[in-house]
Amino acid sequence: MTVLLTGTVDPTYTGEITATSKIDTGKVVNTSPDKTAKVPTKVEPAQVDIDYTQSGPNQQSWPPEWKGYVWTYNFKLKATKNRICEWTLRFDVTSPGGKFNTGGNPDHWYTVVDDGADSGGGHATKAALAQARERLFPALVELVGSAGTVTSLDIDRYLTVWANLIHHERGLDNIRCFTADGIAGFPERAPYDRMVAWCTPPLLPKPWVDQVVDGALIVAPLSIAAVPNMTVVAKVRVSGGQPTVEAVFNGGYIEATASPKTDLDLPGRWVDWENRVPAPSWISIAWRERDDWRHTGARTALNVLLKDTHTEPYPGETVDWPSWRTYAAATGDPHLTMAGLSPDLWAIGHSTLTTAAVLQQDGTIIADAPDSPSLTVLRGWLSGWEKAGRPAPETYTPALVRYDDDQGASG
Ligand SMILES: C[S@@+](CC[C@H](N)C(=O)[O-])C[C@H]1O[C@@H](n2cnc3c(N)ncnc32)[C@H](O)[C@@H]1O
Repeated sequence: MTVLLTGTVDPTYTGEITATSKIDTGKVVNTSPDKTAKVPTKVEPAQVDIDYTQSGPNQQSWPPEWKGYVWTYNFKLKATKNRICEWTLRFDVTSPGGKFNTGGNPDHWYTVVDDGADSGGGHATKAALAQARERLFPALVELVGSAGTVTSLDIDRYLTVWANLIHHERGLDNIRCFTADGIAGFPERAPYDRMVAWCTPPLLPKPWVDQVVDGALIVAPLSIAAVPNMTVVAKVRVSGGQPTVEAVFNGGYIEATASPKTDLDLPGRWVDWENRVPAPSWISIAWRERDDWRHTGARTALNVLLKDTHTEPYPGETVDWPSWRTYAAATGDPHLTMAGLSPDLWAIGHSTLTTAAVLQQDGTIIADAPDSPSLTVLRGWLSGWEKAGRPAPETYTPALVRYDDDQGASG
């Protein structure tokens, strides 16, 4: 007689599983010496990779409802077939009129058709499923209509003079670009019905609020901590001269600077110490006001993250960077630190005059020592973030606080 028992393990389970069997023949004599057996196995987390290429913008003039500028994204989604069987591709459309050519369903599900097992088995190294998506932005000049005008500012004169000429050659004469520091707004053409920023001011500039009509919207990336690249995009309504944040979204652009930026890898603001040799690295500490004029604290924190460091992999799942950085900023901890220790990788963490610990974008934790007090704080933040369910930036309740310094600056 054969008894077959089948069952399903919790699909989210990872860890050890041991299947145990026992043969009991009751009153019938069992001559086999093997009456029990154990088969241990290990269930590992699903391996998933996503990468994409982006191209565009390409101008599109037909059909009329798809007029605008198209960015094309080609996604490669890779996974082990028996662990991940469905994907969802979801986009945030934050610009008014933006669309995707998904046929109307941005949450469309896709089935993995090939796990790439041919490439050596297990986790695919070749593209398992390629998806092409196009994202469309109507030009601002089309949004304002023929009676409206667009005023565009950039600190980089090379961009504004070329942009003016190209717009004119395309017959778009209701848009004008000016070379100006956008932090001051542009009173010459005020008031504005809408304002959009593609660079991040240190604070929401008061001139912006003063230069819009009552009820206007300002959409701008705003800093949520005094270190670079910690931003959300805020939708700000101005009523009776008062700005209120109506919603926040994930996103950000380069820092607004007083002159055109030459080094695009280095943040434009709040870099407290920087090495250029033997390899570029930098650090930004939210506690800079308490550092000395030789930047001893910033220098030390950067050095302890570069030399004789303790490193360990982050044990959790792949770090969702926008969620993690927003959570880290929301701690409001004055020791918050952002660093660039390896090319193209940001790192967020905690530092003091003598210790530092950061989580880098590739999932590596780097600290001055295994028993570093900064590492203890960082681990606490990470477990709080996991317990909170890795909240999306959009889920936070924004608060805009007026700032006036004694030099007359405000925001
Ligand atoms: C993401 S790019 C946007 C480029 C272009 N304006 C566009 O909309 O396609 C960010 C731009 O912000 C500009 N920028 C940086 N600081 C600025 C400032 N203080 N005032 C005006 N523009 C600034 C940079 O020169 C850079 O071209």
